[in-house]
Amino acid sequence: MQTVKFFYGNDVPVEMHKVRVVQKLNLRTVDQRREAIEGAGNNTFLLQNRDVFLDMLTDSGVNAMSDVQMAAMMVADDSYAGSQTFTRLQEKVCEIFDKEYFLPAHQGRACENILARAFVQSGSCVPMNYHFTTTKAHIADKGGYVEELIIDEGLAVTSDIPFKGNMDPAKLIKLIGELGKEKIPFVRMEAGTNLIGGQPFSLENLREISGICREYGIPLVLDASLLADNLYFIKVREAACSDMEIRQIVREMSSCADIIYFSARKLGHARGGGICTNNQDFYMRMRELVPLFEGFLTYGGMSVREMEAITVGLEETMDFDMISQGPQFISYMVDALQKRGVPVITPAGGLGCHLNAMEFVSHIPQEEYPAGALGAAVYISGGIRGMERGTLSEDRYPDGSERLSNMELLRLALPRRVFTLSQVQYAIDRICWLYENRKMIGGLKFVEEPKIMRFFLGRLAPVSDWQEKLVAKFKADFGDSL
Ligand code: F0G
Repeated sequence: MQTVKFFYGNDVPVEMHKVRVVQKLNLRTVDQRREAIEGAGNNTFLLQNRDVFLDMLTDSGVNAMSDVQMAAMMVADDSYAGSQTFTRLQEKVCEIFDKEYFLPAHQGRACENILARAFVQSGSCVPMNYHFTTTKAHIADKGGYVEELIIDEGLAVTSDIPFKGNMDPAKLIKLIGELGKEKIPFVRMEAGTNLIGGQPFSLENLREISGICREYGIPLVLDASLLADNLYFIKVREAACSDMEIRQIVREMSSCADIIYFSARKLGHARGGGICTNNQDFYMRMRELVPLFEGFLTYGGMSVREMEAITVGLEETMDFDMISQGPQFISYMVDALQKRGVPVITPAGGLGCHLNAMEFVSHIPQEEYPAGALGAAVYISGGIRGMERGTLSEDRYPDGSERLSNMELLRLALPRRVFTLSQVQYAIDRICWLYENRKMIGGLKFVEEPKIMRFFLGRLAPVSDWQEKLVAKFKADFGDSL
């Protein structure tokens, strides 16, 4: 999106698309919202979508598709083997990333399963700028472990560092020195680093990390799921790249990586995933796992219609207007909240706006899941569904003690091209109200706790009657308004 200046000075992000299909939303009363979150075990994953007004849980598989994507879905070639739809997708992936081989998979974590099975052994260490939940779970499942080598500033909540997702090259060299390269099957760089607030790395950093990996003969894997946001930030924040075409930046990034994988639920605005590489040996190692876990090599668990949509979505990602919408809306939301004193991750990243629960509800101990409690409170306040990204999203240590997270975030994702600016303004308003009343928010405790990835299905209860009191305050302040 080119900057559009307003005559009266209030610059707002202007959408470079128009809405042609809509879905009706419900906004329940505050009493109904409290009941709904209780019924969901205070876990926003367990809410029914019909009870949600603004679904900011994730951008995964819920970004708006374009008319061209929808049209492409109608010409899909429905065949188990040798589908022309697959050939079109393969050609597009290989063209954009300048790679020779492509393997399909049904979503991002399926790629991670294949990668971990092909490369990770018991005792393997996988260094990465920062972990993602499913990535870490697959590596741990194969007996390996993760080392996070993010730059120290990456974990600072408020900052003006443009590339908080950078890996610290000195930490990588030190780790390789300590472990030896044999224990490291690959190094992973995650674009638009999800769990630290959708923060990008720079092309310069990727090149440096790639140089180290090549020097030691360790493959570099790029998780390109959130590539679109990272591309936007490289283009607008990295001076050396400001004149480069998006397509050219992708090529440069790609040339640094030996293997690239992505969730097409994010990259490509559809539902699927895939892995590409130039290395024939790597390709063969991973290829045999695709029919075992995903499906035949010409669909990999994806429907042909989704594959057609991904092919178009990948091409549309090369359009600066398209990839600007998310980061610009997020920046609008982050700036507005910050102006009102609400603690948010800065600088604004991709994916969504991240509330810093550690500060928002600083009175709630980490053992009572401050970000989870804030998630329940935001839902009660506005029917807005966010996602906890903190201690709840960690699994316990083997001895049963809590693994306290470095950060306690409530992520409010902005699926691309889905919400209008007035809906974003509503969310800002309700969050500001909640911030005024933050001392009323209390903690949560588990009543049902799964052993693995407990954040998905775990059920919790408030530690006191704080939710009833919050509802009473809402009614006192808003009367009969929804
Ligand atoms: N890598 C990153 C960086 C991700 O953000 C995700 C998913 C995956 C891999 C796994 O992909 O969901 O297709 O299996 N992130 C979603 C989210 C779940 O809500 O942030 P998947």
